[in-house]
Amino acid sequence: MNGTNIFPGAHDFVVSGTINAARIINISNNFGDSAKSDAVMPLMPNPSTRFTGRTEIIAKLKEHFSATPNDGVQKRKYFLLHGMGGIGKTQICLKFIEDMSDHFSTVFWIDASSAGTILQGLKGICLLPEAKSCLVDRSPESALHWIGSLKENYAMVFDNADSLSPPELEVYFPPGRRGNILITSRNSSMQCLTSPENSLEVTEMEENEAILLLLKASCLSSSSMDFKAEASKIVKELFCLPLAVDQAGAFIASGASNIGDYLDRYLHH
Ligand SMILES: Nc1ncnc2c1ncn2[C@@H]1O[C@H](COP(=O)(O)OP(=O)(O)OP(=O)(O)O)[C@@H](O)[C@H]1O
Ligand SMILES: [Mg+2]
Repeated sequence: MNGTNIFPGAHDFVVSGTINAARIINISNNFGDSAKSDAVMPLMPNPSTRFTGRTEIIAKLKEHFSATPNDGVQKRKYFLLHGMGGIGKTQICLKFIEDMSDHFSTVFWIDASSAGTILQGLKGICLLPEAKSCLVDRSPESALHWIGSLKENYAMVFDNADSLSPPELEVYFPPGRRGNILITSRNSSMQCLTSPENSLEVTEMEENEAILLLLKASCLSSSSMDFKAEASKIVKELFCLPLAVDQAGAFIASGASNIGDYLDRYLHH
């Protein structure tokens, strides 16, 4: 895990799943740089089962990546989601990819938290059956070259690109002008790779969304006005930060506190 996480857990979900029609290839690891030289081919994370809200951002991403150019010539599309740790950038990206699974031929999901994790991911791509016959060797450069040669509408996600500088990240973009690149980062200066128009700061959830998330995570009914009123006080105190709201809900769901007592306990510890 990246040492600068604001909340523990923000990077801790490399789980699995296959997403509908698109061929999703998740290339990442949750061991930091401990295995720099190894290819890593774990399974694809799903968005949280409690995924809530963010409809405007997802709609914007869909519009951006679906738009056809006026001149009919397909050019590579780029987009950056930036914002503080735990604000929900990776989750939004996962939900977007899930929703758009019919749109992309293949999705390469790269853990971009360091050069080491990116290299592991690229080496993992070399192990794909469809890549193997087209590769000069099993190097990261070969993987990039292969991706760059794809004729289909692939997407490459560089997730958690927090510690590399923009030029350091850019060297891992596949050659050519096809495909789609989506970056998530805490570093807003990554927008020099995508352009400011093709960047969006992810900020806190809307209060209504945060209330819904808290109640889902607490396993409490969102039709109770009493629960909603208590939830409203809690999410305001947590600045509607999704990671904090989700964790508060898990605490309540565990039985360690009930929703009415949570704030007292939180404020006194
Ligand atoms: N829309 C959402 N619905 C439900 N839970 C969410 C949502 N967004 C975020 N979360 C919760 O908050 C946690 C952190 O979100 P996420 O990893 O997307 O943040 P991030 O901005 O990518 O953080 P980092 O900069 O550390 O990578 C998730 O693991 C999930 O528990
Ligand atoms: Mg993230």
